[in-house]
Amino acid sequence: MEKILITGGAGFIGSHVVRLFVKKYPETAIFNLDKLTYAGNLANLTDIEHHPNYHFIKGDIVDEAFVMELFEKHQFDGVIHLAAESHVDRSIANPKEFILTNIIGTVNLLNAARNFWKTDYSGKRFYHISTDEVYGSLGDEGKFLETTPYDPRSPYSASKASSDHLVRAYYHTYGLPALISNCSNNYGPNQFPEKLIPLIINNIKQRKPLPVYGKGLNIRDWLYVEDHARAIDLIFHRGGIGETYNIGGNNERQNIDIVKTLCRIMDEKLGREAGESEQLITYVTDRAGHDFRYAIDAGKLKKELLWTPEVKFDEGFELTVNWYLNNQKWLEEVTSGDYQGYYQRMYLNR
Ligand code: NAD
Ligand code: TYD
Repeated sequence: MEKILITGGAGFIGSHVVRLFVKKYPETAIFNLDKLTYAGNLANLTDIEHHPNYHFIKGDIVDEAFVMELFEKHQFDGVIHLAAESHVDRSIANPKEFILTNIIGTVNLLNAARNFWKTDYSGKRFYHISTDEVYGSLGDEGKFLETTPYDPRSPYSASKASSDHLVRAYYHTYGLPALISNCSNNYGPNQFPEKLIPLIINNIKQRKPLPVYGKGLNIRDWLYVEDHARAIDLIFHRGGIGETYNIGGNNERQNIDIVKTLCRIMDEKLGREAGESEQLITYVTDRAGHDFRYAIDAGKLKKELLWTPEVKFDEGFELTVNWYLNNQKWLEEVTSGDYQGYYQRMYLNR
């Protein structure tokens, strides 16, 4: 039986990838390795936890001996590596955790794969999931291509850029069968409410101030998480070894537009007066080194592997807001405890 290791499978994007693989490939054993940090949550996977081809392993990719033993025990045929510290603001407050998990953790996985595959690379794949933030910040024009030079500017993006370079180095130096994709901002169910969209949804619901950094004019390209998961499936199975693919939604929006759209949708759904939630918008001190604009040219993925995003932005927003309103318990659990301290540190007197 083929065995695939998915790291970070209890997180936001990882849980959607695990679900897709467990359901679509019943003859493949799917191992989800996750440390269950604040961002990892097994409640994201309750619907598939009893599937016979699904296995959960709690563990830390920074623990080299543990990672080596895991490969020795299971002899994985493929790796899809999503485990990471993923939030830019946390990386500004505490970069070291990002260096450990995103760089050292990735190297541990690369070494383990190299160690156990070295005699036979046939059919093996090491697929590293990365971000468009490695390319830096755009002005009003242009889009990131796979050939755009790296220019990471936050500790988060610098750590992801570093891990991308190491994955490529293992491909060129040792012939490790590696692939990389760099995706734009994801949104959808199960996203931890430190990121813009779920944070704003949660605050609107609670009638709390809606913190908009700077003037709210920064631009992100948004992709529904299940479209990202479908791209990952395609690239893992059909992507060229040694290749990089950009993934994006062709959905550029200013932050302030995102926030106002959420206000409008939620006023309707919660039976509030039109315009009520917009009054909660509060402009706060900008993020240090805030990248102005991200935009992706996903032409290579579309042309070579015929991928195209299926979920339109309005539809994706509707699905996302409905999910958070229908999963009150999930939201309460992840916003109790440590989240309160995080929120105070990040937003109090900002
Ligand atoms: P997330 O923060 O929601 O989840 C990360 C997961 O990794 C969590 O389950 C966490 O417990 C686990 N993890 C963290 N440190 C670990 C460690 N040391 N050992 C084992 N597990 C550990 O992140 P996400 O938003 O789902 O992002 C997943 C991946 O996709 C990341 O590599 C991120 O860089 C990349 N990415 C994210 C986005 C986005 O918009 N969220 C866009 C492009 C790329
Ligand atoms: P975020 O969801 O943190 O993703 P990233 O920084 O990886 O793009 O932020 C998305 C955008 O929203 C970014 O320009 C910063 C902005 N933002 C706010 O204005 N207020 C907030 O409270 C947060 C978390 C983000």
